[in-house]
Amino acid sequence: MLRIAVQSKGRLFEDTMSLLAEAGIKVSSSKRTLLVQSSNFPIEVLYLRDDDIPQSVATGVADLGIVGQNEFEERQEEADVVRPLGFSRCRLSLAIPKAIEYTGLKWFEGRKIATSYPNILRRFMQANHIAADIHVITGSVEISPGIGLADAIFDIVSSGSTLVSNNLREVEVVMQSEAVLIANRDLSAEKRAVLNELLFRIEAVKAAEEKKYVLMNVPTDKVADVVAVLPGAKSPTVMPLATEGWSSVHTVIDEKRFWEIIRQLKELGAQGILVLPIEKMIL
Ligand code: PRP
Ligand code: ZN
Repeated sequence: MLRIAVQSKGRLFEDTMSLLAEAGIKVSSSKRTLLVQSSNFPIEVLYLRDDDIPQSVATGVADLGIVGQNEFEERQEEADVVRPLGFSRCRLSLAIPKAIEYTGLKWFEGRKIATSYPNILRRFMQANHIAADIHVITGSVEISPGIGLADAIFDIVSSGSTLVSNNLREVEVVMQSEAVLIANRDLSAEKRAVLNELLFRIEAVKAAEEKKYVLMNVPTDKVADVVAVLPGAKSPTVMPLATEGWSSVHTVIDEKRFWEIIRQLKELGAQGILVLPIEKMIL
């Protein structure tokens, strides 16, 4: 049985639970007790505050954890990052009151900066040889300049709306962050085996997320041209249609290049283009 620590609420909770669900791991979310066992996979979920996840994994209270990279780096706990998960993306930035003119990093010399991430900020300021006064607060960091508690803040920025509504302006991005899967360093062989099975499933979910299954009808004399513009597809499936002179082409393409490809396909005479999500992909 592998124990995984996840955030009990907040930005990571929803995405973490849907990743587990897509990996076919059933965890009842109705009974929100601290510890919930999966009904179909040897894993149990421990719901914690995100701040407590790195330490719980380092000490072995949990075997794995899903936590923001920012939180993990801040805590400086001994655990391994197994895999970035691609969700809950945000950045840690310095922001100052909108009305103030920003003159570059030197501006922060001797200024008071409010943050919940003092370690990351201290390292950044040291690396840039700036002596700032770091003031640690645990919540509502964004209001501190407005109430005269600090000159600037260092905090998570996602959509940026918190900054806007507090008349603040992002002036330096210090780190990019996303959710990561972390693991205790001394997992037993048995636990490693469960972790590998979990990783196999996560790979399949992630690989599928970035791809689309595309089918289209193409004039048979254009099939070669169509195949040439399909990126990465070594051998798309080509089948004759009942209508003479037409073929059906099936392939998998990168979500990122979706629009670019679709336009080219239309120009080549492709019709009835269907784009379908892929649930899992085993490479
Ligand atoms: C962070 C941060 C801001 C907000 C920024 O808090 O402290 O308040 O998100 O997001 P935005 O750019 O989309 O407005 P979070 O929701 O993570 O809560 P926490 O500080 O309690 O962890
Ligand atoms: Zn938090």
